Amino acid sequence: MELQILDKTFVPFISAAEIDKEIQRIAKDLHNNFQNEVPVFLVVLNGAFMFAADLLKHYTTPAQVSFVKVASYQGTETTGKVNQLLGLDVDLTNKHVVIVEDIVDTGTTITAIQQVINTQKVKSMQVAALFFKPEAYTQTVEISHVGFRIPNKFIVGYGLDYNKQGRNLPEVYQIK
Ligand code: HPA
Ligand code: MG
Repeated sequence: MELQILDKTFVPFISAAEIDKEIQRIAKDLHNNFQNEVPVFLVVLNGAFMFAADLLKHYTTPAQVSFVKVASYQGTETTGKVNQLLGLDVDLTNKHVVIVEDIVDTGTTITAIQQVINTQKVKSMQVAALFFKPEAYTQTVEISHVGFRIPNKFIVGYGLDYNKQGRNLPEVYQIK
């Protein structure tokens, strides 16, 4: 079934069942990674809220969970866009950190987040992204856990929005 959001038409792309399957795989990989360690999951709002909820329900060993938001604003002409990390309220010293993202496309946001995290003496840092657009990616940060590698076309649903709408959908739609 086609979906209309504002001026755009979307078509079904990835079902709720397919999403759940990949999330279970990522949770299993994370369990294997951490064994007896207690990682800190840093969930990047707003987009990652649904992915994080489902991922962490499958991650059943001890963990810390916290939420951050990236504020992007125009800096000076020379600095261009500036990303600021808001709400980081955990001491990450000596912690294994997992950044939970809905989607990585150009990679500038995840790179900015990593740079902030790296100012603390973390034990390790990984990225778990439900969606990754390799054709759009311009950065070098390794995306350790990827749910789906997808073409560089706009998607909505499962946390991702188009002009603030569509985040609540349990499956993912692609622009027609
Ligand atoms: N959809 C929604 N939000 C996004 C996307 C997308 O395809 N890529 C980066 N942010
Ligand atoms: Mg995001």
